Amino acid sequence: MSGHKIATAEASPNIALIKYWGKRDDKLFLPLNGSLSVTLDAPIKTRTTVLFSEQLKKDEFWLNGRRQTEEESADVVRVLNLLRSDESRSRALVVSFNSFPSSAGLASSASGIAALTLGGAHALNLKLDPQALSIIARQGSGSACRSIMGGFVEWTKGAHQDGRDSYAVQIEPHTFWPEIRILIAIVTSQKKEVSSRVGQTRTVKTSSLFLQRLKEVDKHLSAVKELIARKDTENLFLEVMRESNNLHAVMMDSWPPFFYLNDVSRNIIRAVMEFNSGSIKAAYTFDAGPNAFIITTDDCANELKNQISRISGVEEVLESKVGEGPKILQDDSSHLIDVNAMIPVSLSPKQAM
Ligand code: DP6
Repeated sequence: MSGHKIATAEASPNIALIKYWGKRDDKLFLPLNGSLSVTLDAPIKTRTTVLFSEQLKKDEFWLNGRRQTEEESADVVRVLNLLRSDESRSRALVVSFNSFPSSAGLASSASGIAALTLGGAHALNLKLDPQALSIIARQGSGSACRSIMGGFVEWTKGAHQDGRDSYAVQIEPHTFWPEIRILIAIVTSQKKEVSSRVGQTRTVKTSSLFLQRLKEVDKHLSAVKELIARKDTENLFLEVMRESNNLHAVMMDSWPPFFYLNDVSRNIIRAVMEFNSGSIKAAYTFDAGPNAFIITTDDCANELKNQISRISGVEEVLESKVGEGPKILQDDSSHLIDVNAMIPVSLSPKQAM
């Protein structure tokens, strides 16, 4: 088909061990501190097909079978505009499915934006290295820049005003620590009261505790990097839990305060603390939502999973290893778009993946 450029990519969410919270530039998504994450593995992923065509009148974005409004598509369109050169201003149809329940409130924006960036670049035949892809994904949603890589990933905050040195770098590949497991406890919740974007701005503007956090967070990032290199689980897990607590403390210190943890989240914290009595074998960590991410090792995963599953209000516990990172799907049958009709394929998410 002439004028059609299409590609399909898959990417997984990442969970931050040292959190990104607060921007020094809202337009370019430049963070006030560096952060570090683990990319989840393939069963937990977003698949995205991007089609550029001169026949399309405007950009269109579908997520889990539903056409998104202009407002809901804003991050996607921003990434498309960064990918498109002036010569090829073709509009795009973007179709995405998450493999995980959308009600789960997992950070699907990170995996979605990473898959879009990789798929879009491939469709346009742009030969971008991971660093350049990461800089584009960052401007779709900050944490997405880390989902461009697998394994353990650091997002260096950078110093330049134009953001050219603010991108993600893989510090260890997924093969480095195969014993690591990440449990994801899905907690019943309503829609977020405050989006993470609004929450960050509020914290930067109003929290004095946040100023203290900024003084210390880089030191914790270096410590976590070293503990990963040494595979020192006990001290790493301790750092991870305290970092999560610190993030949620600055949210509460913001004005007006906002909360992502609920009673179920707090019961999960208690269960992990109990599991750790004697020695530290697991770490809980929470992003901008009530779901718990629990980092542990393969020898503890089953027992802990059983214990967490029994907590009232925990809907499901998913399990992940450290993921390999995003990939392009070469097979045409993996596209989520009917190329001839230029419409999303009519599949349920289960069939689509
Ligand atoms: C708590 O990446 O969602 O998950 O850049 O405004 O899109 P925007 O924010 P987003 O923030 C993620 C915050 C976090 C911590 C983290 O992932 O590092």
